[in-house]
Amino acid sequence: MLLSAASLPASYLGHRGLIAEPIRVLVTGAAGQIAYSLLYSIAKGDVFGKDQPIILVLLDIPPMLPVLDGVVMELQDCALPLLREVIPTDKVEVGFKDLDAAILVGSMPRKEGMERKDLLKANVAIFKTQGAALEKYAKKTVKVLVVGNPANTNCLIAAKSAPSIPKENFSCLTRLDHNRASSQVAMRCGVPANNVKNVIIWGNHSSTQYPDVHHAKVNVHGSEMAAYDAVKDDAWLKGDFISTVQQRGAAVIKARKLSSAMSAAKAICDHMRDIWFGTKEGEFISMGIYAAGNSYGIPEDLIYSFPVQIKNKSWKVMDGLAINDFSRAKMDATAAELVEERDTAMAFLSQ
Ligand SMILES: NC(=O)c1ccc[n+]([C@@H]2O[C@H](COP(=O)([O-])OP(=O)(O)OC[C@H]3O[C@@H](n4cnc5c(N)ncnc54)[C@H](O)[C@@H]3O)[C@@H](O)[C@H]2O)c1
Repeated sequence: MLLSAASLPASYLGHRGLIAEPIRVLVTGAAGQIAYSLLYSIAKGDVFGKDQPIILVLLDIPPMLPVLDGVVMELQDCALPLLREVIPTDKVEVGFKDLDAAILVGSMPRKEGMERKDLLKANVAIFKTQGAALEKYAKKTVKVLVVGNPANTNCLIAAKSAPSIPKENFSCLTRLDHNRASSQVAMRCGVPANNVKNVIIWGNHSSTQYPDVHHAKVNVHGSEMAAYDAVKDDAWLKGDFISTVQQRGAAVIKARKLSSAMSAAKAICDHMRDIWFGTKEGEFISMGIYAAGNSYGIPEDLIYSFPVQIKNKSWKVMDGLAINDFSRAKMDATAAELVEERDTAMAFLSQ
């Protein structure tokens, strides 16, 4: 569906004088609540750049197509200059075609009485299909971000189902947890959120995740100090801080009766923008990546959240950070959960 009948030129002369071809970006679960917060930010250039025209492909399941029509209308009504085309679809061969970026938000939600195993089984089926569609239809350079839960294992299944796309192109969202951790420390120190850097989320996007501030820095009145020195409350950092971040998703659901959407959308934008443009000098961020060859003793065949730096659209794990016994135990516990989840998922994948 064309957004505007007025035919824009095939390439676009951006305000910095650069000519850019449109990129093709897929959002799945596009009729859902995260997508509703996300699509505007992408379409107005917050993620891929203010000079980058975009074709937005919106995939959802057939019963949601009427809702998707409403989302398309609203995107049209935003009259955004970078948005060339919006393609709503329920077909993977349309949704995954020639993609530059894929943001996989849609997944099977946990329904009442549903066992964890059944949920995993349903999601393995979805991410196997979507991985195979990436393999068949997307560009081999596509950057894939998995958001739908269980995000780490869904990402692993998608990556395994798209063997000709490098595993490094796949990542899952732990940036929301990372942002939650930064914000908790910032509020505790009474500084703006961007005065905190280099917190780490290790492991699974679940309540076993380990938010770690041993290497974080806080800028307090112009001087940069270690988070432990800035916070001056070790008991809080080793106790309530960790459980607050781990349980934050549940706390939002309890309060809102809906899961985090605005903050998830913001985190997706942060994550994808950093893939596209790189992380800031001297900073690292957290994302779930394929754990091959890591120096932290994490089992290899997992999507595990690590501290990474990104340059030229490639990430590199921050090696050499000192890990004490407290951290080691928590990093291993979340890895163990992921190993179990992977093994269950792999059994379903081979069925
Ligand atoms: N990783 C994270 O940090 C994080 C944070 C928040 C939410 N989440 C997860 O993101 C997912 C989406 O959350 P939401 O609040 O937008 O949910 P939602 O229920 O509002 O929307 C989900 C949408 O996905 C669609 N969908 C389901 N199966 C699909 C499929 N096979 N293909 C395409 N679309 C499909 C649904 O029809 C629905 O429109 C959930 O799994 C949620 O748990 C992850």
